[in-house]
Amino acid sequence: MTTAAKKTPVVLIAAGPTREKLDPVRFISNYSTGTFGYELAYEAIRRGAHVILVSGPTNLKAPQGVKLIGVETALEMRRAVLAELRKADYIIMSAAVCDWRLEKVAPRKIKRSSGKTTLRLIENPDILSEVCAHKAHRVVVGFALETENLEKNALKKLFRKNADLIVANALRKQSPIFGDNNVNVVIIDRFGNRLRVRNRSKRDLSKIILDKVLSFNI
Ligand code: C5P
Repeated sequence: MTTAAKKTPVVLIAAGPTREKLDPVRFISNYSTGTFGYELAYEAIRRGAHVILVSGPTNLKAPQGVKLIGVETALEMRRAVLAELRKADYIIMSAAVCDWRLEKVAPRKIKRSSGKTTLRLIENPDILSEVCAHKAHRVVVGFALETENLEKNALKKLFRKNADLIVANALRKQSPIFGDNNVNVVIIDRFGNRLRVRNRSKRDLSKIILDKVLSFNI
């Protein structure tokens, strides 16, 4: 009797913040450290997966063996994720993508002028929604950082973006916005199953999330 060789799963992870340029020396961004995405990458590597890590700027060291694609802006992240999408079985969008970018990046350093300055922002594309529109058989995981109505808002996001799973991360008043290592999450799948996990490190949570993701039936 022959047994079919099990295919090595390919996990595509988007991590870290994006930066949106104002001019050659300035940008707008957010406080994301990339820790969650990198922990997920380490855990996926430990489990023998092929990992493609599309990362915004962070101070973290990528695990050995990943295919690391460094990006800066949301548009660069989108291009890299969509280019790698077809190779992946599982896509985890843990990146804190900036919702807006400058309508026009100034070619030279913006000079201080007297009075007020107005920056015109335009919306960035929603990478997770675009990935889900082309996902076919792939399992796609989104993240949601919420300050109120955590589960309700995360569920809405899951369905609006057409993801398979969402990791809802409760932003607590006493915690740093990003970089917290004592985290409460609810993992919700598109069938409405909820897994609530409290006070765990991102490393522990990465194990729990990957268990759920890799066993997801589509
Ligand atoms: O809508 P919100 O930004 O809260 O959604 C969070 C989820 O959507 C995360 O998984 C994030 O990586 C993804 N996202 C995205 N592209 C954006 C904004 C968010 O892929 N422009």
